[in-house]
Amino acid sequence: MRRTALFFGSVFISLTVACATPASLSTEKTTLRLAHNMNESHPIHQSLLHFAELAEEKSDGALTFEIFPNGQLGSEREAIELTQTGAVDATKVSATALESFSPVYALFSIPYLFDGADHYYTVMESDIATDIYDSTTDNGFFGLTYYDAGIRNMYTIGTPVLAPEDLRGLKIRVQPSETAIEMTRLMGGAPTPMAFGEVYTALQQGVIDGTENNETALTSNNHGEVAKEYSYTEHAIVPDLLIFNQSRWESFSPEEQRILKEAALESSEFHKELWAAETAEAIANAEEMGVTFHEDVDKAAFRESVEPMHQQVKQDPDLAPFYERIQEMRKEGHTND
Ligand code: GCU
Repeated sequence: MRRTALFFGSVFISLTVACATPASLSTEKTTLRLAHNMNESHPIHQSLLHFAELAEEKSDGALTFEIFPNGQLGSEREAIELTQTGAVDATKVSATALESFSPVYALFSIPYLFDGADHYYTVMESDIATDIYDSTTDNGFFGLTYYDAGIRNMYTIGTPVLAPEDLRGLKIRVQPSETAIEMTRLMGGAPTPMAFGEVYTALQQGVIDGTENNETALTSNNHGEVAKEYSYTEHAIVPDLLIFNQSRWESFSPEEQRILKEAALESSEFHKELWAAETAEAIANAEEMGVTFHEDVDKAAFRESVEPMHQQVKQDPDLAPFYERIQEMRKEGHTND
């Protein structure tokens, strides 16, 4: 709270300083504010720094970013609201957190939507993704690009989760989203929605028995200190999104917009490679922390347990067209090459 108050004390002072720039760019130096909820050791922080460096370089210093990591401006939901009002210019959030702002984002939390990483990348690099990014323009923001956030798996303090019956009676933290709640319920667990920043303490205090996320959460967020059983349920591939305030965006010249877009796409590519390396490192470090990785999961049983969600989406007039397009990409055997 105190940090937020301090932030608001300075946030509305837009830093504009005259500087020498090419004619196509503004003569004013603009500092943009970007928030996210991971700490400085997390790969997403490095990729967002890279985005900021690229934007600054490409604009000859006219566009700079001040980055607020660690959820210091609030939870993902709060950061989205700040981006909506323009109190911050851009935010990195999980697609799941966007579900209550635009229902189509719920698709990403439908378990087993993608049949693997290739299918996921194909969709994320197609116009399906950009159509989804633009679905929030009436809400005051839009998606500029996505960042890889791995595959989500269950991890627990006690017994591993190898089949739906292992989840029975377990309190599993999920992202605050109707879809994530429903998924966990159908899989057999007791869903406990909470903001990401609260998960470590909740695990430590035994408020929850486990949670689900990619491997970096074990090390970067220290979840592996408490939750030692990581089970490859591979139930969801949910991207992170870089969202941008709409009116701020419209205040930029086409050249500035082009630069920001280009910087975003390049940083997204950069992140994809970084992600693979950092995930491998997270697994090695988590093993040293005493985490066991379980591959022998009955994924077919988990997939079957969530079939009602697929049936429901197929009947939802807003989501069905997107769902079908995503399924088409699976059928047509698109690859990422
Ligand atoms: C992932 C994602 C975060 C999100 C988190 C969560 O780590 O990258 O943006 O906050 O999941 O489970 O809440």
